[in-house]
Amino acid sequence: MIERILNEALRLWATAPPYTVAPYEDAVIGGRWHLRKDRPVNVFMLGLHRNAKAWPDSEEFDIDRSLPKNVATHHPHAYKSFGDGERACIGRQFAMAEAKIAMAMLLRAFSVSDPHGYRLRIKETLTIKPEEFFIRVRTRQPHERLQLGTGEAVAEEVEVGAIAGTGQRFAVLYGASLGTARDIAEELAERARVDGFEVVVRSMDDSLRDGAAPEDKVIVIVAATYNGRAPDSAVEVERALDAGAFEGADWSGARFAVLGVGNSQWPNYQHFPKRVDAAIEATGATWLLPRAEVDASIGGSRAAIWRGWSRARGCSAMYATPTRPSRRPPIRACRCC
Ligand code: HEM
Ligand SMILES: Cc1cc2nc3c(=O)[nH]c(=O)nc-3n(C[C@H](O)[C@H](O)[C@H](O)COP(=O)(O)O)c2cc1C
Repeated sequence: MIERILNEALRLWATAPPYTVAPYEDAVIGGRWHLRKDRPVNVFMLGLHRNAKAWPDSEEFDIDRSLPKNVATHHPHAYKSFGDGERACIGRQFAMAEAKIAMAMLLRAFSVSDPHGYRLRIKETLTIKPEEFFIRVRTRQPHERLQLGTGEAVAEEVEVGAIAGTGQRFAVLYGASLGTARDIAEELAERARVDGFEVVVRSMDDSLRDGAAPEDKVIVIVAATYNGRAPDSAVEVERALDAGAFEGADWSGARFAVLGVGNSQWPNYQHFPKRVDAAIEATGATWLLPRAEVDASIGGSRAAIWRGWSRARGCSAMYATPTRPSRRPPIRACRCC
């Protein structure tokens, strides 16, 4: 909820209102706009974000615009509060996490009001902000707290029971820059090892360099993406894909699954994992389950990750026979179970 409020506030009043770009070559965009090489152009978010063609009732403050089902209907370039492309904000996820935590802590402790009916006046420095905006703050009383449910934590149903791996080879490959995909890969490997698989975990590039044949293995790839491109530990794989190195390869003996790690706030959401998935599928390898996605923007939490992975673990094609019934019902979200 807080994230949706922040998104909508940033849509109507992007704190860094323009960013500047210039084309490398003369170009015509939208069939009529002539842009000259190296001539800077300002992209003015306050105009873009209120464009009625992109945003119905564009002046309305409506936090439901950033519900996932509605985001899917937006034009991919209609929201640019954090800039665009390779020079987009690298602090985006940090800023959103920090703002959410700060808001939650403030609202938990204090009740906030605007006794003077403030009318917005913009103060402009490097960023824009409200000028002379004062709020009234007092300690929040117990009766002012919203009661949701019983307050008891509800356990995520992610266990799918014990599994016997019978010494089968199992490779977990990761493509990561900052380490999220690697962490997930290592946790998956750990679990598979406990389940009795002979596990190796390494980066996608290391695996490519080793030239390991995939025929007799279960391969799980956990890959992130940056601006739709490969993360640091998969750049050589991306180069090989660009060069068509896997075209015509026959990996029909391999069984594989891809878990993409991305953030749907970026226009090229999950682009690299999708590309990897399609390339491996084209080799004739057996697809164990549909590509799973972890979306950092909608709670890419451990629970979400394990929910994604539980689908893989619930896939009977991947594992040998379960040794005892599940403690909780398995999550049967994948198409092959
Ligand atoms: C709500 C908060 C924020 C907003 C709205 C925002 C917005 C932006 C925008 C629009 C750009 C692109 C500027 C351009 O293309 O000229 C940008 C770039 C950048 N931002 Fe943020 N930002 C925020 C928070 C942060 C934070 C917290 C950090 C650091 C921890 C940060 C670090 C950067 C950096 C380093 C760049 C330049 C990236 C590059 O040129 O490769 N930002 N930001
Ligand atoms: C500069 C930057 C660019 C990103 N670009 C994309 C993108 O194009 N598509 C996407 O789905 N996620 C994108 N993300 C989100 C990352 O893929 C996500 O944060 C992921 O968890 C990073 O994994 P890693 O820690 O393993 O590198 C981007 C993140 C950053 C910081």
